[in-house]
Amino acid sequence: MKVLILSFSSNRVNEKSLYPNQLGMTFACVQECENELKENGHQVDHICINKKRIERCRVCGERGWGHCLKGHSCVMNDDFNEVHEAMFDYDAYVFVTPVYFWEMAETAKTFFDRLKRCDAFNRESKIMNKKIVCIACAGGSGTGTEEALRSFDLLNHFLKTVMHARIPVNKEMYETQRKVIRDAMKTL
Ligand SMILES: Cc1cc2nc3c(=O)[nH]c(=O)nc-3n(C[C@H](O)[C@H](O)[C@H](O)COP(=O)(O)O)c2cc1C
Repeated sequence: MKVLILSFSSNRVNEKSLYPNQLGMTFACVQECENELKENGHQVDHICINKKRIERCRVCGERGWGHCLKGHSCVMNDDFNEVHEAMFDYDAYVFVTPVYFWEMAETAKTFFDRLKRCDAFNRESKIMNKKIVCIACAGGSGTGTEEALRSFDLLNHFLKTVMHARIPVNKEMYETQRKVIRDAMKTL
């Protein structure tokens, strides 16, 4: 199976973070997913969306819709369409975001806002029916992870994907949650 991991943190080395966040919590989770998936014989690719140029939706057409409603792609000339089309080629997706202000990261929201517009009303969507695992990486207490995961539930509803696992991660419970992440990868 081919699995695509999309992550939404720029934080690769955060020296001020407490263990186990030395590499950034999001990247630590990405590595955990990658290792488990590869051990299980899957092909895995990872795109850090923060390294792509993805602008906010311009709501460019009339009555709130643009080309995305019927054309199922975006008219903007940035990296969105390239990532969107790359997704077609995979059987499953793992989304890993930091929790900011009780929500998924801004880069995740921006990307998924545009993805929903292109695929929510596409009967021939190439994303529909694919498996997803969603991981929300928070700070010490983990306050706000549920709200971030709730947004992934809505995304799952609109994209008509198949939610395999939604995993809250916080620094203090990380060692326990690593096992949950590995178990979730085994379901793909
Ligand atoms: C702008 C900002 C807002 C944050 N908001 C929350 C929050 O609402 N709840 C929480 O538990 N942690 C919050 N945090 C902490 C991050 O979720 C935490 O540091 C996480 O590990 C970040 O992932 P990273 O290490 O991959 O950057 C926030 C951090 C930043 C920078």
